[in-house]
Amino acid sequence: MKVAPSLLSCDFSKMGEEIIRVDKAGADLIHLDVMDGHFVPNLTIGPAIVKAVRPYTKLPFDVHLMIDYPLDYIDAFADAGADIITFHLESMSDPNLTIEKIKSRGLKPGVVIKPGTSAEAVYPYLDRVYMVLVMTVEPGFGGQAFMEDMMPKVVAIKKEAEKRGLDILVEVDGGISEKTVDHAAKAGVDICVSGTGIFKAEDTAEAVRILQNSDKN
Ligand code: DX5
Ligand code: ZN
Repeated sequence: MKVAPSLLSCDFSKMGEEIIRVDKAGADLIHLDVMDGHFVPNLTIGPAIVKAVRPYTKLPFDVHLMIDYPLDYIDAFADAGADIITFHLESMSDPNLTIEKIKSRGLKPGVVIKPGTSAEAVYPYLDRVYMVLVMTVEPGFGGQAFMEDMMPKVVAIKKEAEKRGLDILVEVDGGISEKTVDHAAKAGVDICVSGTGIFKAEDTAEAVRILQNSDKN
């Protein structure tokens, strides 16, 4: 399984160094949580910060937009150096236009569903996306408990993609640590996001390795 540390749990006063730390620890991608205080009750980073930290690693930037109008900000995040941009199907922008906009900038699009949204909601977009992100907490904050009951959605989406012969990555985000990752591995998850599980671990490299190897048994 690939591992995407979420910078939401890093030391914001030295984000560049924190990125270098997880890069050296063997991370596969860097997950950046963008929140607007409307779509979720929290405010985080915008394109200026993404651009400022971009030079610190060559790893792909996985930008998770938790904002009301993602379509209006695709250009800004593309210019800032995003590689993958995921947006919520519960947001206000038209999903098809948003996917097309992300692709038009040469980036990889992904759709995200909150815990209350069904797996079937992503089916109309499956043939056009690179990734589906299944939230395993209510979006907004790090450090929440993993929702194991989201795993059937992962299984259903993987199965539907396979049925259609599509090569789609399924990512999970929220509450993933060495204690919970086995559920994700069993469900067939391709990428796990982990904030506190990695940044608050005693040994960063060991934490990354445990998550990466969780599906190798
Ligand atoms: C929550 C964010 C997550 C969060 C994960 O809205 O999308 O990426 O940072 O943090 P942990 O791993 O601590 O649950
Ligand atoms: Zn996230």
